[in-house]
Amino acid sequence: MKVILLGPPGAGKGTQAARVADELGVTRAASGDLFRENLRNETELGLLAKSYMDKGALVPDDVTIRLVMSWISAPEQDGGFVLDGFPRTLPQAEALDGALGPDGGLDRVLYVNVPEDELVRRLAGRFICRNCQTPYHQITSPPKTEGKCDECDGELYQRDDDKAEVVMNRLKVYFDETEPLVGHYRSSGVLREIDGEGTVEAVGDLLVEALQ
Ligand code: AP5
Repeated sequence: MKVILLGPPGAGKGTQAARVADELGVTRAASGDLFRENLRNETELGLLAKSYMDKGALVPDDVTIRLVMSWISAPEQDGGFVLDGFPRTLPQAEALDGALGPDGGLDRVLYVNVPEDELVRRLAGRFICRNCQTPYHQITSPPKTEGKCDECDGELYQRDDDKAEVVMNRLKVYFDETEPLVGHYRSSGVLREIDGEGTVEAVGDLLVEALQ
């Protein structure tokens, strides 16, 4: 199956991506993680992406499409995939539709919807692992050992773009550029809307149910 996780910043896409991918037995990637990995390795692409990410703006479509298409076309993704954070604009959605072709299109677009005040609360308390990018929250999902990732013992840090002023811009960009994709996918019949306000466990159950 080919599945997209769509939703605003802080909706819980990264938190749920592993569960959805495990359920389907497919690989997963997040476009934001691919950019952050490039930044950690100090590649030209990573430095370019940082200049947009720090402001809460989207990285230009041509760069993003090239990066994600190269991931999708790798043989590991032949059995299907879960993509988190891509597409985020109409040109990205059209590029993905074109790359998958008429017979290999998306099976599900899982749209995780959460009210804005809760998104702000989640992002303000988030820490992620510098090594494997697993997200935690200081109140709702704390790690077992403070400052350390449960999965790989990596160091936890707060993302620069989770600062309050950048979060407000990310939300604005989401509503302007990405939310219109809900209509795009609703009309093609693959969209399932999920209430993302419950506990991590409850939202995960709804997502798994929506795969049926
Ligand atoms: P990206 O990394 O994709 O960020 P995002 O979409 O803004 O999503 P987040 O990672 O902030 O949120 P999430 O939904 O994954 O929430 P999470 O699970 O962590 O993008 C960053 C930047 O990269 C962009 O601004 C842009 O510059 C660039 N970029 C990326 N993709 C691009 C693209 N396609 N085109 C152009 N530019 C692109 O959860 C959030 C917090 O809530 C955590 O603390 C978590 O523990 C907690 N939480 C999760 N679920 C629950 C729950 N049910 N109850 C309580 N707390 C919860």
